[in-house]
Amino acid sequence: MKIPKRIGVLTSGGDAPGMNAAIRAVVRSCTYHNLQCVGVYRGFQGLIEGDFKELDARSVKNIINRGGTFLKSARCKEFRAEEGRKMAFSNLQNENIDALVVIGGDGTFAGASVFSKEFNFPIVGLPGTIDNDINGTDFTIGYDTALNTVVEAIDKIRDTANSHNRLFLVEVMGRDAGDIALNAGIGAGAEEILIPEQNMGRERLLESLSRSKKSGKTSSIVVVSEGDQIGKNIFALAEYIEKNLKEYEVRVTVLGHIQRGGAPSCYDRVLASRLGVGAIDALLRGETNVMIGIVHNKVTSVPFSEAIKGSNEIDEELIRVADIISI
Ligand code: F6P
Repeated sequence: MKIPKRIGVLTSGGDAPGMNAAIRAVVRSCTYHNLQCVGVYRGFQGLIEGDFKELDARSVKNIINRGGTFLKSARCKEFRAEEGRKMAFSNLQNENIDALVVIGGDGTFAGASVFSKEFNFPIVGLPGTIDNDINGTDFTIGYDTALNTVVEAIDKIRDTANSHNRLFLVEVMGRDAGDIALNAGIGAGAEEILIPEQNMGRERLLESLSRSKKSGKTSSIVVVSEGDQIGKNIFALAEYIEKNLKEYEVRVTVLGHIQRGGAPSCYDRVLASRLGVGAIDALLRGETNVMIGIVHNKVTSVPFSEAIKGSNEIDEELIRVADIISI
């Protein structure tokens, strides 16, 4: 087993609060183990373009509290082609980088896995995405912060919804996963939560909203995951509700990218720090092609192939809780 001496770190895909904390932990762990660390800018794009910068323990000062990623991020099409990956490998060789830590979501791990096998190059991944849609970890870096951002926003929406007796449809992120919608929906006291994993159907939504009105509710919040299949889109759904339930005045709020920004929560900072240290430990143990995650509060590793399977199982217990408390 060849122990890596010079490790590259990059962030890729959609950014997530806590990515900076993860980079910081990787860099400082390298220093701790007398390894060199090189930052790669703009994810795989920076690998292809040779956009590298030497990092030491002081290069990552004052960033544990910052959202976004100072290494910047990108979704890189060129890395999907062999030509692009060859260029990336040649740049890594020229820089004497002998292992990589990649921080991102399933797309990042899919690319890393192909590259690692193609060039027999050691890579360890960290789950960084607000969507929490990665298998093999209970939580992804950024998810907790995003939940808190969403709950804070919905609390504000509730004030105005209540003042005007309105129904608000609030769209939250999660292209394929309803974790943000389900958990933030429970936390913010939503009447209904629409998630991609479960299509409740428009009729049942109308019935439920009608029941709410009859039971004396004056305003309502429905949290809609962006990947939800119930309507063509959230605006069409709002029109449908207004057409069929005349008693409701409906407004739509799309929370969008504010969910990806902001200072990471303490939970995300600690998670990112534990996983960053875990990534270097794993490389020093000779592990490759794995993601470091957290399962039952223990740092663990799973092969990339497992991680990218996604976690599309609905948490039935959470759905039951949501149903009961929104009565
Ligand atoms: O992958 C995280 C995510 O926030 C998804 O929930 C969302 O669909 C997507 O990123 C949007 O990404 P962008 O606008 O950066 O392409």
